[in-house]
Amino acid sequence: MTDQRTHQEPRLATSNVDVLSAIRKRRSIRRYSGEPVSKEQLDTILHAGLCAPTARNLRPFHFIVIQDRDRLEKLAQGKVHARMLAGAACGIAICGDKTVEERMEHLYADCFAATQNILLAVHGLELGGVWLGVTKDSEWYRLIRETLELPEHIEPAAVVSIGHPAEQRPTPHTWEESKIHYETWSAQ
Ligand SMILES: Cc1cc2nc3c(=O)[nH]c(=O)nc-3n(C[C@H](O)[C@H](O)[C@H](O)COP(=O)(O)O)c2cc1C
Repeated sequence: MTDQRTHQEPRLATSNVDVLSAIRKRRSIRRYSGEPVSKEQLDTILHAGLCAPTARNLRPFHFIVIQDRDRLEKLAQGKVHARMLAGAACGIAICGDKTVEERMEHLYADCFAATQNILLAVHGLELGGVWLGVTKDSEWYRLIRETLELPEHIEPAAVVSIGHPAEQRPTPHTWEESKIHYETWSAQ
């Protein structure tokens, strides 16, 4: 008998936002209305994470969805720059399995590619989100490990805070000629 939990695709949303607009217009959103995120939205966001490229196609990422208010509050209190989690509809911890990908530079790259996919999906669904960095061995790192009951081989790489936006931020991203190089470093 096949395992339906593994193989049954959830209902996924589509977006009217084209991929280049999403890349250009996405901003970190830290204020939320309190409205919940639907199951279809959440599955769509998680699926975007699962679609990310991985260095050796080992797909070492795992996503922990945090919706419990006490747990969100605990994580929010653990780091000044993560306070918005207290008002978020949910958080997603992006973690890597060190037994699947042993090269840490690959593990982090894979998790970060998934994190950016998640942020773009959040934007595409007209929700708001922000990437929260997890510094290895920091107090917040330890709090995340404890709060999410992570086994030793699971490495937390990032947390994304998600909700319905209660702020609008214009895009500041402009063309920066000085950061573009052709062929060699010194040529412009
Ligand atoms: C690795 C990384 C870690 C970040 N950590 C935090 C964080 O802890 N708290 C926070 O509010 N924003 C965090 N951010 C979001 C940045 O502050 C934000 O992307 C940056 O200011 C540019 O703004 P924008 O995302 O609106 O373009 C992080 C972003 C990255 C890529």
